[in-house]
Amino acid sequence: MIIIFFLFIFISFLTNTSQLVFSKEQYNVSEVCKVTRYPNLCIHSLAPFSLSEGRSLSKWARVGVSVTISEVKSVQSYLARLKRQGHFKGRKKVALSDCIETFQYALDELHSSLNVLRRLSKSTFGTQMGDLNTWLSAALTDEDTCLDGFEDNKEKKIKLLRNQVLKAYYITSNALALVNKLATTGLDP
Ligand SMILES: *[C@@H]1O[C@H](CO)[C@@H](O)[C@H](O)[C@H]1NC(C)=O
Repeated sequence: MIIIFFLFIFISFLTNTSQLVFSKEQYNVSEVCKVTRYPNLCIHSLAPFSLSEGRSLSKWARVGVSVTISEVKSVQSYLARLKRQGHFKGRKKVALSDCIETFQYALDELHSSLNVLRRLSKSTFGTQMGDLNTWLSAALTDEDTCLDGFEDNKEKKIKLLRNQVLKAYYITSNALALVNKLATTGLDP
């Protein structure tokens, strides 16, 4: 009888702990996008992955990083096309090559982030959140570095390039915000 009693106490302790530390809450796309810096862009880019029952924060963070990977890949093909067309000369040509390189770094960091988000675990959660923050911040820096080469240029092709890169930057920033929200809220089961 005593043993059963203690077992009961122990089990309720476990249940309470997991409720405290690990949120089961489901968020719809408009709720989860409130934590981001560019909520309209967030809703627009994440809405296709909405579920009627909502998603947990860890799932949204994963969707956010996946969407960022697609966006960065699409900018990469755009940059590669510009390079093939060979319109950029001199300083701009160098800047374009640098951009292609920094976007490759960003893509690698995003892939590392996605791998972590696929393997979230309670025992390494703190370290995992630290790694994610490092890699996603590095991806933002890399995308921003790309823009450095194209400042103060009114040329139409360059404006277009800047807009594409900025969109990738904003979407990456949103993914980082979702990860930071997950880090402060805790892991769901
Ligand atoms: C999202 O959830 C909030 C609060 O639960 C609710 O007010 C809102 O209508 C929901 N939005 C959508 C698009 O389902």
